[in-house]
Amino acid sequence: MTTSQRWQFDAYNTPTEALSWRPQELAEPGPGQLLLKILAVGMNRSEFNYVQGRYAPAREFPSGLGQEAVGEILAIGPGRQDGPQPYHGTPLRVGSRVALLPGRVDMCAMGTYRDIGLYDQAALAPVPESYSNIEAAGLWMGVLTMAGALELAGITPASAAGRTVLITAASSSMGVIGLKLAKAWGATTIATSRSAAKVGQLAALCDHAIVAGDSESLHTGIANATGNRGFDAALDPVGQAFYPGLIQGAATGAHIVSYEMISGREPVLPIPVVMMKDLVIGGYTVFRPYRIPGLLTQILDWGMAYADQARPIVAGTRALGEAPAALDELGRCEHLGKLVLLP
Ligand SMILES: NC(=O)c1ccc[n+]([C@@H]2O[C@H](COP(=O)([O-])OP(=O)(O)OC[C@H]3O[C@@H](n4cnc5c(N)ncnc54)[C@H](OP(=O)(O)O)[C@@H]3O)[C@@H](O)[C@H]2O)c1
Repeated sequence: MTTSQRWQFDAYNTPTEALSWRPQELAEPGPGQLLLKILAVGMNRSEFNYVQGRYAPAREFPSGLGQEAVGEILAIGPGRQDGPQPYHGTPLRVGSRVALLPGRVDMCAMGTYRDIGLYDQAALAPVPESYSNIEAAGLWMGVLTMAGALELAGITPASAAGRTVLITAASSSMGVIGLKLAKAWGATTIATSRSAAKVGQLAALCDHAIVAGDSESLHTGIANATGNRGFDAALDPVGQAFYPGLIQGAATGAHIVSYEMISGREPVLPIPVVMMKDLVIGGYTVFRPYRIPGLLTQILDWGMAYADQARPIVAGTRALGEAPAALDELGRCEHLGKLVLLP
């Protein structure tokens, strides 16, 4: 047995009220498992929502927290390794630095807001060699989400040239990576934020950065950026408040991919406009690459091949011991890029 410590909660509440740092006994790693010392934790908005009961419900209480981290392998389970294998570039040696794959970390039973964790080998992802631990902790949620959503929207390294891609809420840790990938693949990029200060910073990462906080400002910004032509693909986590602007701002044949609904979940959809403009509207979660044969490997390959261009922007590091306050900070939306916890 190994005694570890983790942030956990017994009931939904604000991060500061809900979370406590508690010991958890871990079994020795069995076949296909390994023990990881956590070196850096990537923070995600879903964790801020999960602790407050605004995400998928916890399977049981107490529940852990966190899906993304980089760590050092402390011990590897014995015997033949069964089950799905991690990416081919992931070394499985004690002392190796590896990342954890969101979607394959059991947030409830294990999580990543902790000092040591027990994980399946299939939850491992590679760490680009030139990355610091802090950068590596913020890569894979962004790549799994945004490269996969771009692919669903018909944007790949082979097809991006000549296409215009809109990334809304682009100051988010997801948005920054989506923007960087789309640009590296050759697309013309448009980024939005509600904040003029953040738009100033985003301008360096894209072709057009616009202040948009509602559908009207979004549509006006898209029309100005594209000379009224519209975008070919949009990745959007804002939802309800942006949908009329997205439909109006889409070029004929455009794809709109929703991957969250921060502002509300029931947009008004003008079906005649969707039909006449030949639009394709899709939904994406980080679980899709695990369902579509070959997609996970494709996305991991893109993540490694474009690691330099897609390098996360680190908004700041906070102490793991201050995780509740760091989650409150994330909720205030003052950051641009990724907040990372360090033990
Ligand atoms: N589907 C999936 O599998 C999946 C995977 C990962 C993440 N997500 C979702 O993707 C989103 C981004 O995640 P993240 O962790 O990168 O978030 P984040 O860094 O916390 O950024 C979220 C940003 O959204 C913008 N925003 C917040 N409320 C808004 C509103 N009412 N209207 C318009 N914009 C608003 C803010 O940017 P400005 O202040 O600059 O406007 C904020 O900084 C989250 O909603 C998350 O749950 C989904």
